[in-house]
Amino acid sequence: MFWAFVVLMITIQCGLCDKVSPKPGLKLFREDYKSVEETCLAVGFVRNNCTEPNYRMIAFDVRLKEDKRNLADKARVVFETVDLNEGLGHNASTGIFTARSNGIYVFDWTTLAWTGQYAFTSLVVNNQLKSWIYCSGGQMYLPCSKMTIVKLRKEDKVWIGVYQGPANIHRHYTSFSGYKL
Ligand SMILES: *[C@@H]1O[C@H](CO)[C@@H](O)[C@H](O)[C@H]1NC(C)=O
Ligand SMILES: *[C@@H]1O[C@H](CO)[C@@H](O)[C@H](O)[C@H]1NC(C)=O
Repeated sequence: MFWAFVVLMITIQCGLCDKVSPKPGLKLFREDYKSVEETCLAVGFVRNNCTEPNYRMIAFDVRLKEDKRNLADKARVVFETVDLNEGLGHNASTGIFTARSNGIYVFDWTTLAWTGQYAFTSLVVNNQLKSWIYCSGGQMYLPCSKMTIVKLRKEDKVWIGVYQGPANIHRHYTSFSGYKL
């Protein structure tokens, strides 16, 4: 029984050896792979290089330095205090985040509306509203937040805008952050 098994194993192994002799196959595979890689590099898809935009870390976290009073419709909320801006996507003087490469991005923002007043803000991508917070202060200060995931192309511009003014936002507890997946 044991010897039968050994003979069977040897037969199988040799059969395999004959069929998939690694050398010619591997050579073909290497050549194929090389040409695929060269093609990809030529059209700019694959590049094992950490300085390339697709491999760069993109993450930011910013907040308000000043209260925002009576921001009008379509006003951009500019977050002046920068706690993190890895990859330099966010511009603190304009409030605009610019995508450095195509991909899926996650954004979230929190606003604190003044008592009795509103902060109706939206995530804006290239002037289009993508996601909304209806934040109405009522009898107290009200914090509101939202997370949104969007697919961006390189150079797309993203910011937090007022979709219905006036917006009154407290500088404390108001922030905006985002990162590329
Ligand atoms: C990585 O890319 C940068 C910019 O394209 C280039 O200057 C650099 O030589 C590349 N490095 C390697 C190791 O390919
Ligand atoms: C931010 O945007 C302003 C206005 O477009 C520009 O002058 C400035 O250089 C930008 N800052 C950075 C760090 O990119």
